[in-house]
Amino acid sequence: MKFNPIRGTHDLFGEELQKFNLIQSEVHSLAKKFNFDEIQTPIFEKTELFQKPLGEQSDVVLKEMYTFSDRNDDLVTLRPEYTTPMIRAAISNNLLVKLPCKLFGIGPMFRRERPQKGRYRQFNQINFENLGCNDSFSDVELILIANNLLNNLIPEKDFKLHINSLGNHKTLQTYKKGLITYFNKHKNNLSKESIAKIKTNPLRILDSKNKIDKDIVAKAPLIYDFFSNEDLKIYEEVKKLLNNFNIKYVEDTSLVRGLDYYCNTVFEFKTQLLGSQDTLIGGGRYDGLVKVLGGNDIPGVGWAAGIERISMLMKLKKNTNNVIHFAIQNENFKVHALKAYKYLIDNNFSVYWNYKFNLKKSLSKSNENNASYIIIVGEEEYRLKKYTLKNLKDGNQLILNFSELLNKIKNG
Ligand code: HAM
Repeated sequence: MKFNPIRGTHDLFGEELQKFNLIQSEVHSLAKKFNFDEIQTPIFEKTELFQKPLGEQSDVVLKEMYTFSDRNDDLVTLRPEYTTPMIRAAISNNLLVKLPCKLFGIGPMFRRERPQKGRYRQFNQINFENLGCNDSFSDVELILIANNLLNNLIPEKDFKLHINSLGNHKTLQTYKKGLITYFNKHKNNLSKESIAKIKTNPLRILDSKNKIDKDIVAKAPLIYDFFSNEDLKIYEEVKKLLNNFNIKYVEDTSLVRGLDYYCNTVFEFKTQLLGSQDTLIGGGRYDGLVKVLGGNDIPGVGWAAGIERISMLMKLKKNTNNVIHFAIQNENFKVHALKAYKYLIDNNFSVYWNYKFNLKKSLSKSNENNASYIIIVGEEEYRLKKYTLKNLKDGNQLILNFSELLNKIKNG
């Protein structure tokens, strides 16, 4: 019997894993620069942690969560997102006594979506969350971190920042009612999926990708018409701060996000290179969520990035990987070659021993693997108690004794 990874999951190795590691080290250095502390939480949580806060009518809760009953009939769910578990952990561990509480986390999430390019059932997210602060600079500071992350990893800059404001929770409720009235009036010209959302999740009709809905959506009431003075002031302040940092953005009234907990600022970094799974990073403000999860009534803002999607846009630099290979003609020369091998590992060089005694095969393998040097031991080298060192970058080769060999490798 042959086993393959479960549909929508994938194994990480080779170049993709190298990219993952690069992304993670970039995240760690940005977190240090902006003073966010790392947190890791369990991969599964009580189902209630997600149901209400994400929205009982959201796609994630309705059809995508991996929920199962534990042996004692408790319902548990593999985390579909990281914001709620991070807040749960901040409350459980009393981290909210000192505010603002700035946390970041990296790890796998699980959603039973239809797999396609850029969309998996197990995928990896980076999350940055700032709890306890309603200054608009906390929104913009997070956008700045996200922008830095993408700029550093994707210098071609094939992405764009989209922003919108949903107003406060009260504004949003009134807006939803306005949308329900409007969409009900135009029901006959909407797609079946959108009609089903009118009552339960009218906001999501605004970001419908169905062409049938386009005209009706284009003429739908705008959230801006429902804004309070305070909502408007906050949105203007966010835009002003973005301009201060020279961060370019497009205002996008169709940007509503898929989870229920958002209010005021929402944003996404999107790309045109990944087809329909075009959001690299998504986030926004979620005042009220900490209280819903049992904490004090403090505000919060954050984002999550999809590691797989970012890695699809990254190009690895092709460079020799500074590994020293060996090519040995005859098994009898093994001990002589291993003397060099031992010295090199003792001096922290990276070595590759291929267990073959065949010069031609060993040479072609080291070229294939972009080795930096190859140490050759044939009849002559063995007789002279020397080694041939071939520099694979420039093709030069020299016959050297033990100490010359090491000097040459050290000093190039
Ligand atoms: P989200 O928009 O559901 O937001 O996901 C954030 C990012 O995770 C997406 O932009 C995408 O890059 C990646 N992602 C989501 N689903 C998949 C998938 N099936 N396969 C691959 N990548 C995926 C949240 O999760 C919010 N918790 C973000 C947030 C944090 N808001 C405030 N703080």
